[in-house]
Amino acid sequence: MKVILVVGARPNFMKIAPIWRACKNRSDVFDPILVHTEQHYDDKMSQIFFNDLELPKPHYQLGVGSGSHAVQTAKVMMAFEPVVINEAADLVVVVGDVNSTIACAMVAKKLNVKVAHVEAGLRSRDLSMPEEINRLMTDAISDLLLTPSRDADENLRQEGVAEHRIHFVGNVMIDSLRLLEGKADQSSVLDLAGVEAGKYALVTLHRPSNVDDRETFMGILQALDYVQKQIPIVWPLHPRTAKMIDQLALRDKLMAMKHMKLIDPVGYLDALKLQKSAKLVLTDSGGLQEETTAFGVPCLTMRENTERPVTISEGTNTLVGVSSDRIIQVAKEVLDGHYKAGRIPEGWDGQAAERMADVFVD
Ligand code: UD1
Repeated sequence: MKVILVVGARPNFMKIAPIWRACKNRSDVFDPILVHTEQHYDDKMSQIFFNDLELPKPHYQLGVGSGSHAVQTAKVMMAFEPVVINEAADLVVVVGDVNSTIACAMVAKKLNVKVAHVEAGLRSRDLSMPEEINRLMTDAISDLLLTPSRDADENLRQEGVAEHRIHFVGNVMIDSLRLLEGKADQSSVLDLAGVEAGKYALVTLHRPSNVDDRETFMGILQALDYVQKQIPIVWPLHPRTAKMIDQLALRDKLMAMKHMKLIDPVGYLDALKLQKSAKLVLTDSGGLQEETTAFGVPCLTMRENTERPVTISEGTNTLVGVSSDRIIQVAKEVLDGHYKAGRIPEGWDGQAAERMADVFVD
């Protein structure tokens, strides 16, 4: 069975790596081909993850790069179509919710090639997010909908999706996390950042709705200013965020925060280490909401909604929105030691990719 596995952007790599491994382990059944659209292309957003996750060099690198949504999506489609034809693929596997996900799903489906969507069924119900549009459209056309949590199954059922397309397999990101946690423990990133385990907050921020609007970004910075006065902050800057800090003339404001440690984007092992050892995490990322739940570390999500509600109902996540008052209030609760403990959701056991491989052959 010729299976094309697609990666495009940073949050895809840790989801594809376990599936690659599961396919390789059954090489009598699967012939996996790795395609990188290169939606993300900086070494620190891409190559370092191949090293950390022990992924091989992709068979195809499509060189798509940045652009408007339409341009980026169209470029992925144009570059991916000949790959699917050339490889005579039996199955195309796409993960998550980035532009490369929908672009490759659409190409494969129109060539009558079976499509599997990993992380299907997640819904924020917020159509102002490009990711929500990508999720809805990818699920609408994929043959196999591989879900990470039971709420995702329910979302699909409510949308009228036939039962035979829905496969609960659990959370594949946690496969990578459990496999590499021991190695991540050896990372020296805390020394590099100049912080001690349990005595700092980790911040990540990159959503256009948070960093492209000056007023929203200022409100978040006001809350972060409060937090860094209580406990040092480590903040690996996403390229989009770094660009917007300069464009919105916010760098001086950040430089005035004495305990704010701005660092370059970090690789996978360092990211695990930084989360696992943090006192708290403040983020607008999807993946960090899940990884902090796996580690049992308090996570304050600076968004109004989440497509990953299990991290709230069972895990350590709280939605705090983007107003500084609410962020500060919940950060205070964590720092004062009044915060929920959380537990590990069903199917977050490190075996999701094996269950996916079972579904592929079925
Ligand atoms: C994309 C995903 C988002 C995901 C995020 C993780 C979509 C719609 N969004 O958002 O869901 O959470 O990746 O990072 O697919 N840039 C670089 N170097 C790179 C990549 C990007 O400098 O390697 C800069 C460019 O200026 C680019 C900007 O970042 O214009 C945004 O990149 P893009 O891939 O369009 O979206 P992200 O914001 O990274």
